[in-house]
Amino acid sequence: MQHEVLISKHIYQEAVDYLASRARVDYHDSDDGLPGDDLRVRLAGKDGLVCQLTDRIDAALLDAAPSVKVVSNVAVGFDNIDVAAATERGIVVTNTPGVLTNTTADLAFALILGAGRRLGEAERYLRAGRFKQWRIDLLTGWDVWQSTLGIFGMGRIGQAVARRGRGFDMRVLYYDPFRQSEELERQLGIEYASKEEVLAQADFLSLHCALTPETRHLLGAAAFEAMKPTAVLVNTSRGPVVDEAALAAALKRGSIAAAGLDVFENEPEVHPELLACENALIVPHIASASVATRTRMCLMAAENMAAGLAGERPPNIVNPDVLA
Ligand code: DGY
Repeated sequence: MQHEVLISKHIYQEAVDYLASRARVDYHDSDDGLPGDDLRVRLAGKDGLVCQLTDRIDAALLDAAPSVKVVSNVAVGFDNIDVAAATERGIVVTNTPGVLTNTTADLAFALILGAGRRLGEAERYLRAGRFKQWRIDLLTGWDVWQSTLGIFGMGRIGQAVARRGRGFDMRVLYYDPFRQSEELERQLGIEYASKEEVLAQADFLSLHCALTPETRHLLGAAAFEAMKPTAVLVNTSRGPVVDEAALAAALKRGSIAAAGLDVFENEPEVHPELLACENALIVPHIASASVATRTRMCLMAAENMAAGLAGERPPNIVNPDVLA
């Protein structure tokens, strides 16, 4: 008997074709996704779910669909899934790590450069017809080259951002609850430091930690006060790692100089105070958004699903305990 898979939202066609040649596919080909109740109804009787970070996969949903064996997220982050609840129910959860590392690091670095050199403000200034003459202090910003880059979270993406930083002759300090090996630190030219040291010394602070109860609001009012008034914060991890209201207040007050943000606390909403900050360069969660990378992420999610349904260990399983 063929397995049946629900794809909750539009993905690249290659991945749909891949799955369709291996399972019966119920494809909700829409950018809007399925609101809670519709997702529950549509998932009933399915063996697998290919979902995205906008889908909330909680215990109640899993209980309503006891036939589900595999949940395959088209993202490296999986804070949208209650993994413990899935594991308790014997459900395999997978994600798409690795393929998006460099694409995401590119965008993080674009935000470092863009926020540091005030590109958003500069473009708005020019388009508004305000460029009347060259001025010695027109839109002056903060140098990236040879400055200090702080990184919270030294996983794959943090490391890729560190490499880019070293290419700009930056001193790279990092904090992570799990320190990397001396060899890797040497290879990357990075220095381990406490959270407080990183906050105090970073000219640019880039966040690359997963969203967990421990990292929710990791950056709040106290952290902004501890940073340099010339510092630039960049977030391409998850919005709730930063207290958005506190960030807007810090940007307004000048506790820090600027921010480059790809992610927000209540996406797709952005805190109105943040929208009003000229010194915030903000983009709509596009860090992994190159055609090649997004296509590969979809294919990877499809491969994870196919392997899981075939009873094999999926290449990117998040909860291997479930197979024990
Ligand atoms: C992820 O994969 O977790 C990103 O946020 C989207 O690429």
